[in-house]
Amino acid sequence: MTRSVTVGAHAKLNVFLRVLGRRPDGYHDIESLVLPLELADTVTVTEAAAFSVGVVGPSAAVVPTGADNLALRAATALSRAVDPTPAGASILVDKHIPVAAGMGGGSADAAATLRALDRLWARGLDPSQLAEVGAGVGSDVPALLREGAVFISGRGDRVEPVHVVTTWWVVHPFPFAVRTPDAYDWWDQGGATGPDGGAVIAAAETGNDELLGSALFNDLQAPATARHPEIAAAIEAFHDAGALGSVMTGSGPTVVALARHLGHADELAAAVAGSFVTSGPPSTRSAGP
Ligand code: C5P
Repeated sequence: MTRSVTVGAHAKLNVFLRVLGRRPDGYHDIESLVLPLELADTVTVTEAAAFSVGVVGPSAAVVPTGADNLALRAATALSRAVDPTPAGASILVDKHIPVAAGMGGGSADAAATLRALDRLWARGLDPSQLAEVGAGVGSDVPALLREGAVFISGRGDRVEPVHVVTTWWVVHPFPFAVRTPDAYDWWDQGGATGPDGGAVIAAAETGNDELLGSALFNDLQAPATARHPEIAAAIEAFHDAGALGSVMTGSGPTVVALARHLGHADELAAAVAGSFVTSGPPSTRSAGP
């Protein structure tokens, strides 16, 4: 019988994202509080004689299925790292997370693929071994392997767990994408570095939503907004609708808004067209677009 393993691949948002500067290797040193969301893809890996990936689901159309696919890259990277080398695996991604949106969708699929293949191949790898393979696939992969809120630093490869209270968010994707290298290049052309994130982390740990809402920030936001004013318009719309705070997530363009509770989140989503409600870290209520 052919064996399969299915795991969830949760999207993320960046409660704050602080860019410290460009490094000699071309990456940027950053600091961020990364919150996994209820919004998720699912990844199923099945024993096979070669590596392949298929993508289905509401956000499938724009996902590459060739060598650029991060789940496929994660699978081949893991196969090279283990001994004996497995023949292959067929990977199926059920895609719900908006693509090239700053929500870590590709990295979440890569992280889920690593966890699923570790089980399928019964390797029992150490989390740090999976993180090392994941870091070679994408900067967000080590954070998304952890399945809980984390503080990240370095280029995203240094990961520390943070215990935070579940919060309710409204997510506003856009019909256009921002490529991550572009977002960082724009920051290089005059972007600023925000404050130390300690106060934001403390607010998230203690569940002080008012303080958390007022302290959200993203250093990639101003340069992105200068090119895409729709981002600032969505943030303003959430403020006008009574959000505790609103910010661009990751390298954008998706805008997220913090709500007081589920009912408030539903009100905000109704007030700003094209939005949906989710929670992070995931509550038990299913939510998504
Ligand atoms: O690691 P990942 O492939 O997701 O990064 C894509 C690109 O985003 C990098 O090639 C780099 O241009 C930019 N990046 C960066 N600093 C980071 C993460 C990403 O400059 N910490």
